[in-house]
Amino acid sequence: MIKNVWILFSACLLLSAVEGTARQQKEFDSDVIYDEQKLPRYTLPPLLETAEGRVITSSQEWFNIRRPQILSLFATMVYGAIPVPPSPLRVSAMTENDDPQFMGGKVTRRLIWIRFRNDQGSTDMRILVFTPNNATEPVPAIMHLSFDDNQSEKLELNESKRNHLNNGVPIGDIVDRGYAYISVYHADLVGHNEVEFNSGIHPLFYKEGQSFPEAHEWGVLSACGWTAMRALDYLETDDRIDHQSVFLMGHSKLGKATLWAAAQDQRFAGAISAQSGCGGAALWRRRSGETLEKISRFPHWLCTNSRKFINREEDLPVDQHMLLALIAPRPVYVASAIEDTWADPRGEYLSAYHASEVYRLLGKKGLAEEESPSLNEPIIESDVGYHIRPGGHSVDPYDWVQFLDFADYHLKNE
Ligand code: GCU
Repeated sequence: MIKNVWILFSACLLLSAVEGTARQQKEFDSDVIYDEQKLPRYTLPPLLETAEGRVITSSQEWFNIRRPQILSLFATMVYGAIPVPPSPLRVSAMTENDDPQFMGGKVTRRLIWIRFRNDQGSTDMRILVFTPNNATEPVPAIMHLSFDDNQSEKLELNESKRNHLNNGVPIGDIVDRGYAYISVYHADLVGHNEVEFNSGIHPLFYKEGQSFPEAHEWGVLSACGWTAMRALDYLETDDRIDHQSVFLMGHSKLGKATLWAAAQDQRFAGAISAQSGCGGAALWRRRSGETLEKISRFPHWLCTNSRKFINREEDLPVDQHMLLALIAPRPVYVASAIEDTWADPRGEYLSAYHASEVYRLLGKKGLAEEESPSLNEPIIESDVGYHIRPGGHSVDPYDWVQFLDFADYHLKNE
């Protein structure tokens, strides 16, 4: 009896705590705008005009003048620049586990440890590389910047859905289409909501006396993006992979980091962001769904300088269509879900639509219609691809099919 009362009491406590958190969350979010009619009026910063008013009319001017300007604004005002480490990083890679019998011998699954070391310490990341065993030449790859730890059972083959991993990744389809699949864990080098930066990768980059990133230096998303870039360094040494044909893909927080990594590192052949929302594909100035103020509940996902623009988005020298444009002329895909209003599906589309101006300047195909497409009408045959599907915040089988179709269209037609 006493035991039952205790269980009941504990359950009530738990419920009221959950309710309390939900209430706090709701109160915190009661000012969120979802109604198109209530959005602020805004003007986007021009893509093809420099801060000094010079109009950009050629790809040469884009690459030599405007692109570097925009890149440096994103680095110093939004995500945080990656500093130069005071002593050089020595990098080594080691294969811990090699299983050529994965999926009944169809795939080789290899766990690689990558170690970074300098005078200030050392830290490790791990990546999982799945390659089709029937390949006769180096294969293109989908690199997935993932929420799932590479040493967890999430990356094992699903017992009942044999051609999927436990995290839902359709590994069978990926290798059947001739791709390698690379899983890169986002939190090996930086915590998910890191606030101290006294372990992981940051301390290796601190100048003498420094113990926290400076206002313009890398936050969490930049460090996640850096992790993907270092995974690509490794792939350059793996002769089973066509490292010039690697698409980077990420969902949500990691969709944001994916876009930022692909913007900086032109070795990525393309980028796919799923519901990356605020700080990803969605336009800041719409302030629809999550805003700069709201995302600052993860205080260091972006760099400290970004906070100057909280509730002053119109003063930001950039908006997110410019981030997508930095990826041009390489293919970029933006995926939305209609119920994921927190990520502002319309703002994600508009960003891709406006970025298309740069794709066209570079002789590529962008999105022609300002109107978002209907549900389940993916735009694949374009250098700026897009879909919106029913449902909410997740990567669904439907999304994977479009991502692979988009990769096929670009990597197999060239
Ligand atoms: C939160 C956050 C989003 C982020 C998401 C995720 O909802 O506010 O910006 O995209 O987490 O990473 O799943």
